[in-house]
Amino acid sequence: MRPPVGSLLVRGIGQLVTNHPGLGAGPLGVMRDVDLVVDDGIVAWIGPSATSPAADEVLEAAGRCVIPGFVDSHTHLVFAGDRAEEFTARMAGTRYDTGGIAATVAATRAASSSRLMETAARLKREAEAQGTTTLETKSGYGLTVADESRCLEVAETIAEEVTYLGAHVVAPEFRGREEEYVALVTGPMLDACAPKAAWCDVFCEKGAFGPDAAREILRAGRARGLGLRVHANQLSKGPGVQLAVEMGAASADHCTHLDGADIDALAGSETVATLLPGAEFSTRSPYPDARRLLDSGVVVALATDCNPGTSYTTSMPFVISLAVREMHMTPDEALFAATAGGARALRRGDLGALAPGFRGDLVMLDAPGAAHLAYRPGVNLVAVVVRAGRLVS
Ligand code: NIG
Ligand code: FE
Repeated sequence: MRPPVGSLLVRGIGQLVTNHPGLGAGPLGVMRDVDLVVDDGIVAWIGPSATSPAADEVLEAAGRCVIPGFVDSHTHLVFAGDRAEEFTARMAGTRYDTGGIAATVAATRAASSSRLMETAARLKREAEAQGTTTLETKSGYGLTVADESRCLEVAETIAEEVTYLGAHVVAPEFRGREEEYVALVTGPMLDACAPKAAWCDVFCEKGAFGPDAAREILRAGRARGLGLRVHANQLSKGPGVQLAVEMGAASADHCTHLDGADIDALAGSETVATLLPGAEFSTRSPYPDARRLLDSGVVVALATDCNPGTSYTTSMPFVISLAVREMHMTPDEALFAATAGGARALRRGDLGALAPGFRGDLVMLDAPGAAHLAYRPGVNLVAVVVRAGRLVS
């Protein structure tokens, strides 16, 4: 049984983004000059200061802006080593391909679990300090039964949502024997990993897995009760997005190279398009067409994709800046995608909004309004982070 956490009153909020249009103005449901009470981890009351109830603890907002905590629905935080040299070469003109993953796989296999835990915990602290209150993270740099399994054990210690990505790439020792590797991923590796994960992911791309292998892996994951996610259309056009929709995946992630049929498929589905512009930034690639997705009615999430190869950032505010500046999302759309969008991508109805009944995950910004997240790029505006009614940062 979880011990009760008591109640917290956040007093004197200048601008409160609820993400709940019924509660306030505009699509983000913005309320002004209110207090908010979190009771036993759950938002219990929002209203004018003059009528606010007593609480065990009080947090003074002093006119600052409060937003829902960021839901980073796509990260790879369990790994060892870094790839700064690969990044440096890329900035000098070398193209990104999936080959670099092998370097992180080798380093991860060679690292102790406690070392992996230290790195993952450091990255989690970094994310929290920048306003992330929910993290998804994956395996995918182990690629043996034992290494994938221990990577998931590490993941469980730092992330609320854990994903099995044994199908990141074909393990180096299986090169030329993809079918055998798929049999491992859908057989003994899945047996060891399914109990430690909620989700099954596959990288469907040239240089990783084709559509038939990816479908087989997703079917096997689903048969074990795992929800589905797909790394899709990151490096080129291809079948990943349509496969994600066909399989009813919660999310198709990257969505960098789409054609009209991909967008139609997403728009007619429950599959969220999770955009990861940190990867385009760090691989110097063209950004996804977020405008076309949004204007077609696709639900969009934003996430960091934090990993040592393509996007070594834990900062959701940085991702919001990129989404606004480079992908032409409005500041409101970007904030919604980084909070409510992430919650949708994880199928979590209790996260991503500040309304009665939602978990009390909030971020107080040293700013009068949430647009400052994109307007002041590279500046940490996160003053206070509360998760389930408890101060975390
Ligand atoms: O999401 N796309 C596949 N996986 C990672 C990159 C992995 C790597 O290069 O280490 C991504 O970008
Ligand atoms: Fe990724």
